[in-house]
Amino acid sequence: MEPFTPRKIRTSHLAEFKAAGHKFSCLTSYDALTAAIFDEAGIDVLLVGDSAADNVLGYSTTLPITVDEMIPFGRAVATAAKRSLVVVDLPFGSYETGTQDAVANSIRIIKATGAAAVKLEGGSERVPQIEAIVTAGVPVMGHLGFTPQSVNALGGFKIQGRGKKAAKLIEDALALEAAGAFAIVLELVPVDIAGEVTAALRIPTIGIGAGPKTDGQILVWTDFAGLAGHKPRKFVKQYANLRADLFEAASTYRAEVQTSTFPDSNTSFAE
Ligand code: KIV
Repeated sequence: MEPFTPRKIRTSHLAEFKAAGHKFSCLTSYDALTAAIFDEAGIDVLLVGDSAADNVLGYSTTLPITVDEMIPFGRAVATAAKRSLVVVDLPFGSYETGTQDAVANSIRIIKATGAAAVKLEGGSERVPQIEAIVTAGVPVMGHLGFTPQSVNALGGFKIQGRGKKAAKLIEDALALEAAGAFAIVLELVPVDIAGEVTAALRIPTIGIGAGPKTDGQILVWTDFAGLAGHKPRKFVKQYANLRADLFEAASTYRAEVQTSTFPDSNTSFAE
């Protein structure tokens, strides 16, 4: 099928993509340089994930990152992206406390970054927050399955929605759709369960570790580009090897400085 090529991706385009059977691509981004590259490459959605916590700020989980820390990342990505839809994660602690905090933090993020939407984690218990944020005029993306902000409650990085828990996952997804979410990320969910959730919804699903039956896919950019230090998880396909390339470049540069090979006459001014 011919891909859609809207000049600017809006939240409504994702449902149109789903209805037309057009699979769409999403990546995380935390800075203007990668956002401009991914935008130019036609990536439909750029998520300023709270995974900036571990990928940029060096925290060991996503839990410590704050709204104040998310805002510069969101502003950089939203400023650089011309076509992609930019979504910013509501960090842990910024929305669970109630609808007032959820709305205030969503509005603050949208005003300060220029992003189009926010994302939050959780099932039917988050319906009041989603309804309130959507009513305030801010589109919301949901996130089900493995939800990293609940890593401690979930007992680590585990596949979600297996066996009897599948029914709850579908129920949660329908609740998020009814509350007004425009799309739902499904993380670490078995292929067929992700397929069932996707078939049950009008709004699109975006999979990460959820197999090929979701409407869109998302990867954390430092994983897909081979920049992260850790061994990639099974569901990550590495499309580049930036860590090795940067290591090689830094090592060569260091050696050339030590041997006075750099700078040479080509990289110096005679007068
Ligand atoms: O923060 C993030 O990177 C995410 C993705 C895993 C979807 O939420």
